[in-house]
Amino acid sequence: MTAGARARLRVMLLFGGRSAEHDVSLVSAVAVAGALRDAGYDVVPVAITKEGRWLLSDEARAVLDAVADAGAPQVLPSSFAAIGEPVVAVVDPTRPSLASVDRPDRAEFHVDVVFPLLHGPYGEDGTIQGLLEVAGLPYVGSGVVGSAVAMDKVMTKRALAAEGIPQARYRALREHEVTPAALDDVAADLGYPCFVKPANMGSSVGVSKAGDREELRIAVELALEYDEWIVIEAGLDVREIEVAVLGDETPEASRPGEIIPGAEFYSYADKYEHDDARLIAPALLTVEEEAEVRELALRAFAACGCQGMARVDTFLRRDGGGFLVNEVNTIPGFTPISMYPKLWSVSGLPYPQLVQRLVELALARHERRVRRAGHQRH
Ligand SMILES: Nc1ncnc2c1ncn2[C@@H]1O[C@H](COP(=O)(O)OP(=O)(O)O)[C@@H](O)[C@H]1O
Ligand SMILES: [Mg+2]
Repeated sequence: MTAGARARLRVMLLFGGRSAEHDVSLVSAVAVAGALRDAGYDVVPVAITKEGRWLLSDEARAVLDAVADAGAPQVLPSSFAAIGEPVVAVVDPTRPSLASVDRPDRAEFHVDVVFPLLHGPYGEDGTIQGLLEVAGLPYVGSGVVGSAVAMDKVMTKRALAAEGIPQARYRALREHEVTPAALDDVAADLGYPCFVKPANMGSSVGVSKAGDREELRIAVELALEYDEWIVIEAGLDVREIEVAVLGDETPEASRPGEIIPGAEFYSYADKYEHDDARLIAPALLTVEEEAEVRELALRAFAACGCQGMARVDTFLRRDGGGFLVNEVNTIPGFTPISMYPKLWSVSGLPYPQLVQRLVELALARHERRVRRAGHQRH
């Protein structure tokens, strides 16, 4: 499919980023760039290095090409850091454009819409979304609030609880509240095993399963290295079922998929190092279970204030206790084997149409916002 008679829109693809999921983002970016081109858009790649430097077109394109050529994300980080000089992007709210101030030789470039493909902190957490709001640029996915709520496990749990959405029993603690007595209390309340997680991470970084009091202490110490807020959850015997949500005012839920972890739980190593986990789409569920989890995903999406897209990760209790919502990811992986595009593909929406739909949703939301603000540009 092409964008038809419409002038070719320029989509800025923002990828890389300052998080543990930097390399995943690069692989996703290659796939999304290809799909955007197939859908008839011009792609303006902007890479963010692990150090937070923004690389504009040529350097960013070189990064994409290197990923595509190498076919393996592991080879990238060293070469990536060496490409390009620091670039400061200035944002002009009266025109959707970014100009480089410390590279005056570089022509200003125009973009119509931004596709932020950054996972984790400084990308998926509302910070980049805030920058794009200030710039007056339309962008794909959730706004500031939805991104921030979904990224923060404590806030997600509060939002889900407020809407009566089932979730694992949990306790939230801040660093100064962590005392031996507090941990005794949590252990007595939740029992073992329990899962300890930093509030604000992703990719299972800092997440561990504790089977006794000593492991709980070590797990809490580890989680506190990543965030001053942590959550501790009752560990359950579950199947991991994920649903892709797409849309804005009337979002739709895809068919569910299932993750079969290769390790004891779906850890960072399992996700990105061993590659032992298996993704099954569609998941083997009863008709009733499928309907239930799709409905639950839409409720969780709304509870967190998400827009455009999100992957809602649920747990199906093996003891017959039904579904629980685990977390909501506002910028899910987009590699060719990632769950989000896979779920849409098995639901009848192929990859290029999916990215086109996301761009259209971004533009439509921006138009509504501009109309409301009463200062239409041009
Ligand atoms: N309460 C729980 N009971 C059982 N397994 C859990 C629980 N919480 C997390 N897990 C396991 O840990 C993995 C990572 O936890 P998750 O909350 O998804 O962190 P992240 O946001 O880093 O992906 C999950 O995919 C699952 O395998
Ligand atoms: Mg997860």
